[in-house]
Amino acid sequence: MSAPDDDGDPAAGSRTPWTATVLTLFPEVFPGPLGVSLAGKALDRGLWRLDARNIRDYALDRHRSVDDTPFGGGAGMVMRPDVVDRALADVEDRPGPVVNLSPRGRPLDQGVVRELAGAPGLTLLCGRYEGIDERVLEARGVQELSVGDFVLSGGEVAALTVLDAVVRLLPGVMGNAESGGDESFERDLLEYPQYTRPADWHGRQVPAVLQSGDHARIARWRREMAEEITRVRRPDLWARHQAQQAAEATAQPKRRSRHGGAAHDDTD
Ligand SMILES: C[S@@+](CC[C@H](N)C(=O)[O-])C[C@H]1O[C@@H](n2cnc3c(N)ncnc32)[C@H](O)[C@@H]1O
Repeated sequence: MSAPDDDGDPAAGSRTPWTATVLTLFPEVFPGPLGVSLAGKALDRGLWRLDARNIRDYALDRHRSVDDTPFGGGAGMVMRPDVVDRALADVEDRPGPVVNLSPRGRPLDQGVVRELAGAPGLTLLCGRYEGIDERVLEARGVQELSVGDFVLSGGEVAALTVLDAVVRLLPGVMGNAESGGDESFERDLLEYPQYTRPADWHGRQVPAVLQSGDHARIARWRREMAEEITRVRRPDLWARHQAQQAAEATAQPKRRSRHGGAAHDDTD
């Protein structure tokens, strides 16, 4: 999908929304799943904008070639620096970071997602073959981001993953009903179990506390379940959560004592 650039268009009447620019050899992949549900509705409402461009349009030779054999030998092909550079140059005025999707990049997590949602926009470069000539990434100071320790056949699925996670955090995209305040990875905890009707499903009961109407007890139960699930399933997150709790516990009395008040725990 390619949207016209409406920067500076007086008819647009309002500021350009948060824009995701995707450079890819397969622009037809987009918006794909981003065209439905939360992200799709937000796209229709103009809360964000997607501009997927074909890198091949920046190849100047007769065959529109975008790749060549690797120096030093080896399997596969490498995306040419001149072609990728022209594509990047064409969108260099777009606000926000330029990110190449790559298995060797910074691991994507909810913290990175929040950071990207806070940026004024995002340009994503999708590799294919064995990847992109290193020199163009260096020359343009491109950051790298990985969606996990596995190898995809191209950056497009990784770009969809990044954008799906980022777009839902953009202002106005999630209503109160879907608000992400209690979700997995908030405060380095996984989410507690969720249940809906019927209360009895094939003899399996919804925990009684959730039907008690006692909001304080429900909140406590949910927090305890989130802690237990995180401790068992993700010791790495659990260690971070505990470190954060410890840091907050030491910071709080200091803050209070500066104002002359008594140090007490009001987290409940
Ligand atoms: C077949 S992969 C290239 C793998 C590369 N030769 C390597 O060993 O690291 C082709 C493209 O898929 C994308 N890709 C593959 N795995 C990825 C991951 N885990 N995260 C982000 N992008 C990935 C990148 O854009 C990459 O250039």
